Amino acid sequence: GEPLRVGLLGGGTVGSQVARLILEHGDDLAARIGRPLELVGIVVRNLDRPRPGLPASLLTTDAEGLVTREGIDIAIELIGGIDPAQDLILKAMSHGASVVTANKALLAAKGDELFGAAQHAGVDLYYEAAVAGAIPIVRPLSESLVGDEIQVVMGIVNGTTNYILDKMTAEGMDYQTALVQAQDLGYAEADPTADVEGHDAAAKAALLASLAFHTRVRGDQVHREGITGVAPQDIRAARGLGCVVKLLAVAKLLDDGQISVRVHPAMVPNTHPLASVKGAYNAIFVEAAAAGRLMFLGPGAGGAPTASAVVGDLVTVARNRSRGVVGPVQPMYNDHEVAPMGLV
Ligand code: NDP
Ligand code: HSE
Repeated sequence: GEPLRVGLLGGGTVGSQVARLILEHGDDLAARIGRPLELVGIVVRNLDRPRPGLPASLLTTDAEGLVTREGIDIAIELIGGIDPAQDLILKAMSHGASVVTANKALLAAKGDELFGAAQHAGVDLYYEAAVAGAIPIVRPLSESLVGDEIQVVMGIVNGTTNYILDKMTAEGMDYQTALVQAQDLGYAEADPTADVEGHDAAAKAALLASLAFHTRVRGDQVHREGITGVAPQDIRAARGLGCVVKLLAVAKLLDDGQISVRVHPAMVPNTHPLASVKGAYNAIFVEAAAAGRLMFLGPGAGGAPTASAVVGDLVTVARNRSRGVVGPVQPMYNDHEVAPMGLV
């Protein structure tokens, strides 16, 4: 059939890997979709930067031109941040394109507007890669477990901070060296303050809580403490108690119907499965009334792992598009209050 035209916004850590997967595995992806994909442009800021593997003919700085180009079917947003990502996504949708994004900061701040716009335009907005990199968790919560009553979602949802804490714990590495390594490995946000101060984990916790409890929680409603206050002596003291320090995200439905969503460092006993989550891996526990306890584990950050989730969304959205349907939209019908910060 006719190719589906894909515009890629961002050619950085994740975007370059997404382009590589689309270009190297085009035939397989076409077979899985039933139609070929045509990558029509890759938006970057700096055209002079060397980008091995990315065809120069596809690179452009004209983001608006790409998302409003006639016949664009799917826009993949991998720029990050609120501005100009939000505006570009809205423009792409209003021109009829479905959207795939990994931008948790944007979704946790502006989810209402974005999902509203997608519904209004009758297009898809998929974001599996926005929470925990390669780990499938958005679709399990919004589809596979949607018939159950989820009580708790908790775990490690930031690869950078887990990498730093792991290096400090296992190798006695200093904080700054570990942070620079995490940046070099492509785990950190463009501004790593978002990682180390817990904003990134709070955004993901908000998305998880929204899906689990069928409500809308924003990132700024999440009680948040990062890892900048964790000193080597805290890590040693934890070890003396048979524990490791981990940055945890916890979203719980309380007995009074409020939901508590928080992110903070915690002492985890060595015997607990979360204690053995190494490097930039993430792990998420889900506790549901009928299912019981489930655990999701895997690479939580990095170019290729995150690109895996993005391209999974791309194939799903492309299949929907080929059939002229949009994917299931999670209705947000509960008005659970978010418990006051610091509670529990
Ligand atoms: P990078 O900073 O590596 O890449 C960003 C890309 O966007 C670059 O190609 C950059 O251009 C381009 N860009 C930035 N600002 C603009 C602008 N104003 N106009 C046009 N192009 C722009 O980020 P990542 O690839 O690491 O992250 C992308 C998204 O994926 C973010 O939302 C992030 O939170 C999310 N994410 C990242 C993960 C990771 O492990 N890295 C994991 C999960 C999600 P140039 O190359 O010229 O600078
Ligand atoms: N900076 C994020 C992390 C990327 O370290 O987990 C994955 O969302």
